[in-house]
Amino acid sequence: MGSPSTIDTPVPVSGRTDRREVSNCTVSVILPTFNEAQNIPILVARLQDLLAELDYEIIIVDDDSPDHTWEIAAELSRQYARVLSVRRVDERGLSSAVLTGMHLARGRALVVMDADLQHDESATLDLIAPILAGEADVVVGSREADGGSYGDWNRWRRTVSWGGKQLAQRLLGTQVSDPMSGFFAVSQTRFQAVEPLVNPRGFKILLEFLARGDRPRVREVGYEFRDRLHGATKMSGSVAGSYLLALLDLVLGRMVSATFTAYALVGLIGAIVRLTGLYVLTETGFANAGLIAFELSVLTNYWLNNRFTFAPLARRGSRLLSGLVPFHLIALHGLMVQVGIAATLGDGSSGILENAWWIQLLGIGVATAGNFLGNQRITWRPSVAS
Ligand code: GDD
Ligand code: MN
Repeated sequence: MGSPSTIDTPVPVSGRTDRREVSNCTVSVILPTFNEAQNIPILVARLQDLLAELDYEIIIVDDDSPDHTWEIAAELSRQYARVLSVRRVDERGLSSAVLTGMHLARGRALVVMDADLQHDESATLDLIAPILAGEADVVVGSREADGGSYGDWNRWRRTVSWGGKQLAQRLLGTQVSDPMSGFFAVSQTRFQAVEPLVNPRGFKILLEFLARGDRPRVREVGYEFRDRLHGATKMSGSVAGSYLLALLDLVLGRMVSATFTAYALVGLIGAIVRLTGLYVLTETGFANAGLIAFELSVLTNYWLNNRFTFAPLARRGSRLLSGLVPFHLIALHGLMVQVGIAATLGDGSSGILENAWWIQLLGIGVATAGNFLGNQRITWRPSVAS
């Protein structure tokens, strides 16, 4: 094992880090923490007993918790060579914390577990066995499988969880009985194959490993969900909202890239801006309302695409201004494509808005795809990143 270590982010998490090259081990347990100061020492002690016979490592990834969980984790890592602690100061979020941990992990099997003692750690050995035997790529700790239960969850949480499960099963075509589980194991091989495709946002990291890339071989292990003794849940309405977005991304991600999905969503926002603008400006008696509304939507789209869709290649300073030129030309070209399609397929007599819905949809679809390719190749061309 490597020397006892604590890492304060930004850690060199892109590419293989030197830590990973030191030596491999059998199992890495990844514990994401946010305000788990009271729970983490108890869990680490239990895991040490449980895994004593194995070559293991425990990786705690804390997001700069106000209750100083990171300090306790750092202390544990000084005490025990098999404990690694990561304190992330620039990033937040359960899924991305898990990914940070996995990236540093050297185990053949990677286990993810809540650090609040709600997951029954004694199921860990059953989770990793099929992976170490080469029989599964993902093993899900399930509250629905034999021997599993939700503990005393209230009706509301059960209903929300049931709804999320139905959506995931229908949309992603997975048979897993508890796709919302935060307790699971993946093989190092599966992780490396899927890592470049994973969406780091949100709470539902297991879905990513189930749904991205080739279909994995999946097993389930029942476990009993326990109550929280210390601290509070971080689940919230926004977590539920981001769950829906993550599902959408997973479904679309099978057909198109996440970048295109973002681009299309921005386009939708632009369309709303354009229609609202058109309505307001016409009502208030502006001349050229159509032109101004179009320009407003182009500017909105440009800003949002720069900020989100092409964030890694974002234009800044004078390049932010100069990017408006190709973006406008491409937008105008897209408009022409749309008009062209309407003129070719429509009855010829009317403007685009009067044509059948499917002609408009086709026009929008072709124009959006074309604009996307144009902007990807010209406006946000990788080689000229600032
Ligand atoms: N590093 C980091 N950053 N850790 C986080 C963050 C974050 O932003 N948010 C939560 N955690 C940690 C918590 O400290 C805990 O160890 C674990 O992630 C789960 O968070 P909880 O807030 O306890 O989640 P929960 O119990 O409500 O939800 C559980 O059940 C869901 C299924 O219904 C989790 O297991 C979910 O993953 C699971 O989907
Ligand atoms: Mn919890």
